[in-house]
Amino acid sequence: MAGIGTAHLRDAEQSIIRVEHLVVEFPAPRGQKVHAVSDISFDVLPGETLGIVGESGCGKSTTGRALLQLPKPTSGKVVFEGVDLTGLTSEAMRQVRTKMQVIFQDPISSLYPRRTVAELVLEPLAIWDVGSSEDRVQRARLMLSEVNMDYDSVSWRRPYEFSIGQCQRISIARALMLNPRVLICDEPVSALDVSVQAQILNLLEDMKRRYGLTMIFISHDLAVVKNVSDRVLVMFLGKVCEVADAESLYSAPAHPYTRALLMASVISSRALSRAGAQPTTFAEEEETQTEMPSSVTPPSGCRYRTRCPRAQEICGVQEPIMREIKTDHFVACHFPLGAPASTEATAAGHSNT
Ligand SMILES: Nc1ncnc2c1ncn2[C@@H]1O[C@H](COP(=O)(O)OP(=O)(O)OP(=O)(O)O)[C@@H](O)[C@H]1O
Ligand code: SF4
Ligand SMILES: [Mg+2]
Repeated sequence: MAGIGTAHLRDAEQSIIRVEHLVVEFPAPRGQKVHAVSDISFDVLPGETLGIVGESGCGKSTTGRALLQLPKPTSGKVVFEGVDLTGLTSEAMRQVRTKMQVIFQDPISSLYPRRTVAELVLEPLAIWDVGSSEDRVQRARLMLSEVNMDYDSVSWRRPYEFSIGQCQRISIARALMLNPRVLICDEPVSALDVSVQAQILNLLEDMKRRYGLTMIFISHDLAVVKNVSDRVLVMFLGKVCEVADAESLYSAPAHPYTRALLMASVISSRALSRAGAQPTTFAEEEETQTEMPSSVTPPSGCRYRTRCPRAQEICGVQEPIMREIKTDHFVACHFPLGAPASTEATAAGHSNT
């Protein structure tokens, strides 16, 4: 991967979120830049869940924050409900943020520890002066009951009195208080035990169905996003590698990095459960353990090439462009698995091995 292109974008009028050529850079020492997100594009349809997957540092959270203009991206467009957010004033953007809420990985630190549950959950309505105080409490009762918590039993307690899983339930209730259209879930279950993970994932699914939410679900673990995502986008070092519906991506990954991530996921679940599929080759196992290249000086051409067992000469000089290899399955790779080499690679005399 490490590719560019927009072949995977669907009809702009259908999407609730459409990101085009998003670039986010941060200053680095000696006048250099951290290339956190480098020309990525994606869209999300109303009611859809997009899983964004990749290992630590690949730019998932930066992408999530860029949707909310936190901070404003270096360049590119973020269109939400037909409006390009990059052109909005900060006041207009504040209004938009009520419709796009975020759930973070660490619920205990994302909830102010000194506030009671009632204060935390009621706060969004208070800030926006929504309804009477009775209306607000009624809404808080409803949202807490939706996450299986009883307002009268929990409203006076503080976050540190709850488990991480319970805190995540409170975060979900709080995020839904303003009736958002989009929920950005940034590693919402990574800090939880496996059994609690499943409860929170089921809860998010229920909430999505009941409230007609659109979700962006960020995780470093492909296994976690598998069951919740309609479409999955795989990132590596600030670039998009592969985009496909979840079924197609898991059954036939085309990008070498997606394949390696899947192997890593199989290996970790095997380690946990002492059961599971066998990884194919040692090379693939080994690859997933290699360090991420620098995002200050990323590799030329395909950013994955220094770790890729399929890399050929062209990968170092020409960035692969996103292309459709079968219906609704897109990959940015010169030599994908199970598909022909790119036009550029073929023209340069390379073949897919
Ligand atoms: N405010 C910042 N200033 C400088 N660099 C940053 C900043 N925020 C993120 N980065 C860098 O941008 C890159 C992408 O970071 P990001 O947090 O988006 O990755 P991630 O995929 O969410 O990783 P993780 O799985 O660890 O949460 C990393 O190299 C990170 O160090
Ligand atoms: S084969 Fe080339 S283009 Fe494809 S992922 Fe490997 S290095 Fe990148
Ligand atoms: Mg992150």
